[in-house]
Amino acid sequence: MKKPITAIVLGAGHRAMVYADYSLSHPDELKIVGVADPDEYRRSMVREKFGFSEKNCFKDADELASVPKFADAIINGTMDEVHVKTSVPLLKLGYDMLLEKPFCVSKSEMKELMDVVNEHKNKVMICHVLRYSPFYLRFKEKIQNGDLGEIINIQTIENVSYHHITTSFVRGKWGNSEKCKTSMLLAKCCHDMDIMMWMMSPVRPVSVSSVGSLGQFKLENAPENSGTYCLKDCPNVDSCQYSAKKIYLDHLGSWEFYVWQELESVENPTMEQRIELLKRSPYGKCVYKCDNNVVDRQSVLINFSNGATGTHNMIGGSAAPLRVIKVTGTKGELYGEFENNVIKFTKIDPDSENFCTEERLDIEDFDVDGHGGGDDNLTKDFIRYVAGEEVSVSCTSIYDSVDGHNIIFLADESREEGGTLKAVDK
Ligand SMILES: NC(=O)c1ccc[n+]([C@@H]2O[C@H](COP(=O)([O-])OP(=O)(O)OC[C@H]3O[C@@H](n4cnc5c(N)ncnc54)[C@H](O)[C@@H]3O)[C@@H](O)[C@H]2O)c1
Repeated sequence: MKKPITAIVLGAGHRAMVYADYSLSHPDELKIVGVADPDEYRRSMVREKFGFSEKNCFKDADELASVPKFADAIINGTMDEVHVKTSVPLLKLGYDMLLEKPFCVSKSEMKELMDVVNEHKNKVMICHVLRYSPFYLRFKEKIQNGDLGEIINIQTIENVSYHHITTSFVRGKWGNSEKCKTSMLLAKCCHDMDIMMWMMSPVRPVSVSSVGSLGQFKLENAPENSGTYCLKDCPNVDSCQYSAKKIYLDHLGSWEFYVWQELESVENPTMEQRIELLKRSPYGKCVYKCDNNVVDRQSVLINFSNGATGTHNMIGGSAAPLRVIKVTGTKGELYGEFENNVIKFTKIDPDSENFCTEERLDIEDFDVDGHGGGDDNLTKDFIRYVAGEEVSVSCTSIYDSVDGHNIIFLADESREEGGTLKAVDK
């Protein structure tokens, strides 16, 4: 029997555990043998779940890096702003790594990380999970087959939704760029930019510009009588569409890993405990009175080396979460709605009555959870990558992920300057 690859969980939060849990259903492929996390509860949760000894538990990345390498790989699920800081010492020890997106928060961090990876020849895969969903893979295959001809234009839209943006980018961890060190585009849309670069590859981007602003979730839009915490002092608690009561208590399962993180060690939190928490936690705050500064709408315009054009629209306060993609080529076009599992291929056909023919290519057994199957498929491909086996067409090694991140850094520079055109380094 083949030996499983061994991995250490670094940052035992929601994301790292999604990948680590793959080992429970596939023990022949992946074995979790250690953990590093400052949070004692999370350390012992991982140790008990995967059954390794206390000596393989570490308080943080530095403590882990102070002992000799004892596994093949690291699953790095720490937060954005410490990805490079936590990765560098472990990459220097020779670990391969599954690293969450965004893999860096600035151009200088990107250089620092790439220099280490180039020197130590680590296999580093970035968690651009959407590439691994059968939905986007169908697009890639159709483009690669030549069914669309030469690509003329590519459009992506990310409708974030009013409940997601207020949870993560107004009240939550990615609301203030001074604290989290990421922009909205980097934190939320690095997937979409990665998808766009992947669809266009090997054609590369040559220039980018962008506009965007924070227009909705700010103090001047607060109703006159609004309070500071929905459940503490706001008369609109039952009528406001952003009310923490409506979004988190009336939909208990939604956003639970963020909103109820403080209660994760409590077995069955009571409603009173939850209400008490929302009276003081950032997730209970009025959405107009948070310390958020990231944009809630942004548009990006990209020019590619073959003359193709691309646009990406991030719309924060939409009614429903929905990723849309449309790729137009000289022979036909593909249109897709991710969450709705809709894929339409329209082919140029002057012999047909309507000048074109339409075919539905929706995915069978589509499940939007786990990024439409992307989480598991990515973990599987990472295991193959580390084991030296052939990887899939989706492979999102760090080298494949650079263009998408670079476009975002340039787009944000452009947005800050009011939309100036930025050239992409060759
Ligand atoms: N791929 C995706 O689709 C996707 C989706 C959501 C989030 N993310 C990304 O996943 C990452 C993790 O997000 P999350 O919500 O799981 O975070 P989290 O806050 O739940 O987990 C991060 C963990 O890292 C630990 N940590 C902090 N500093 C550390 C250090 N120096 N050494 C070791 N551990 C340390 C924290 O204690 C915490 O347990 C983020 O970068 C986020 O942007 C990716």
